[in-house]
Amino acid sequence: MSKQEVIICQNFAEDLRKALAKQSFDKLFVLTDEHTQRLCWPVIAQLDCLKEAVSICIGPGDIHKNLETLAYVWNRLCNEGATRRSLLLNLGGGMVTDLGGFAAATFKRGIPYINIPTTLLSMVDASVGGKTGINFNGLKNEIGAFRPAETVLIDCQFLRTLDHENILSGYAEMLKHGLISRVSHWSELVSFDMEAIDYDRLQQLVGESVHVKEEIVEQDPFEHGIRKALNLGHTVGHAFESFALQKRPVLHGYAVAWGMVCELYLSALKTGFPKDRLHQTLHFIKENYGRLAFTCDDYETLFNFMKHDKKNLSAGTINFTLLGDVGDIRINQTATQEEIYELLDFYSETMG
Ligand code: GLY
Repeated sequence: MSKQEVIICQNFAEDLRKALAKQSFDKLFVLTDEHTQRLCWPVIAQLDCLKEAVSICIGPGDIHKNLETLAYVWNRLCNEGATRRSLLLNLGGGMVTDLGGFAAATFKRGIPYINIPTTLLSMVDASVGGKTGINFNGLKNEIGAFRPAETVLIDCQFLRTLDHENILSGYAEMLKHGLISRVSHWSELVSFDMEAIDYDRLQQLVGESVHVKEEIVEQDPFEHGIRKALNLGHTVGHAFESFALQKRPVLHGYAVAWGMVCELYLSALKTGFPKDRLHQTLHFIKENYGRLAFTCDDYETLFNFMKHDKKNLSAGTINFTLLGDVGDIRINQTATQEEIYELLDFYSETMG
């Protein structure tokens, strides 16, 4: 997989102009959803380099990340005369960059695209690393392709229109990058004041965070090995997310944050993760994310969700990425039902 260029913008207009100048395209398309069309597109639409762009707007949210929306984007590209030399610019959160990336990966067997992520979650995760796709048959990201953007332009100015919950949701993936990288980065992240956000400092932390992901993706673009480090917190996190869907859905990053508490406990139990670092991370998550409510009557349901996680390597075993310490990654770990019930006990006792 080719390497994508990730730019942490100092001057967005100039960085975009340069990124476009590197591509020799015949026509420019901009994909937005109804939210970014209203909130973000007006911020950049007047730039000279975007004057001729054809705008394609889709419905917002995961509910629209489907085949019908994809067909709509393909149709618009066809009807507006896109060729193999056309360029697609995805302006939005993870849903827009995933679906737009997949539309670009498949239209005429692939056209180049640029991502301009507008949520923290898409800046530090979805827009970087070449995973594109849509939901299908009730399953998340079931159909997709690995195809990196030519360039990802990251500018935290777009976060000023984002609500606090969505900032926290993206920040959970940053915490994950801290845990799988270096003590200094992790330590800065768990000391950051989420109540009075310093956006300049946040942009620097985002830069470091994206760099952690880039380094991992570069080593293992197709997730055969070390890219699984990025799954930390996601085995329990996805179970929490699916469980919450039955009552009141929670944002992805919240589920991942709670999942990390559980998986760091499992790491302390099985791979020697230091208890003081577990408690420091737990304290930050509890303070900022609260907790997901469940009782021991729900353990079986949660366990069953984990058993059906698509990351599992064989039926009946649940695959985890654990840590021996911050930055000491242990992929392909498993846990017994007893250990999983124990981590749910720990979560209930400490997060309550
Ligand atoms: N979201 C994790 C990855 O890109 O591998």
